[in-house]
Amino acid sequence: MQAIILCGIQASGKSTFYKEHFFNSHVRISMDLLRTRNRERLFLESCFRTQMRFVVDNTNPTAAERQKYIETAKAARYEVVGYYFHSDTKDAISRNSQRSGRFLVPEKGIYSTSKRMQKPTMAEGFDVLYYVALKPDGTYSMQLMEE
Ligand SMILES: Nc1ncnc2c1ncn2[C@@H]1O[C@H](COP(=O)(O)OP(=O)(O)OP(=O)(O)O)[C@@H](O)[C@H]1O
Ligand SMILES: [Mg+2]
Repeated sequence: MQAIILCGIQASGKSTFYKEHFFNSHVRISMDLLRTRNRERLFLESCFRTQMRFVVDNTNPTAAERQKYIETAKAARYEVVGYYFHSDTKDAISRNSQRSGRFLVPEKGIYSTSKRMQKPTMAEGFDVLYYVALKPDGTYSMQLMEE
């Protein structure tokens, strides 16, 4: 069974990537949607109990934030796959400015997450870790992170 952990500042492309790659196969666990940690915990427990694949779609900027998902998923014998969405703050701000409604987030939130962002490493316990970068033409590049 597979647990996918996305990681990247706001407007780095995580939810779009989820929709393109995992919409038909993985439950989306996101604080944007679930709102409370209690709800998140109950949904994660349900995934483990029912052996459901899931994607954690949060900014997950620190190793500590990622660790709690990695630990519980490994304890449940899931394969843990990470995707790190690299983005310049200015590019993210520009993509954010194209969004509307609740998807348009305050710029200061982007700066603040950017400051807290710790690039994920294999040492955190990922089985596989990818580096994803959006390209100006709307595609993206992806490569394995070995460390
Ligand atoms: N490959 C891409 N190339 C160019 N623009 C993209 C690409 N993927 C997504 N976008 C655009 O970038 C914006 C941000 O994408 P998205 O909502 O997926 O980011 P996010 O990382 O989920 O942000 P948040 O953390 O705020 O939820 C969207 O307006 C989306 O249309
Ligand atoms: Mg999103």
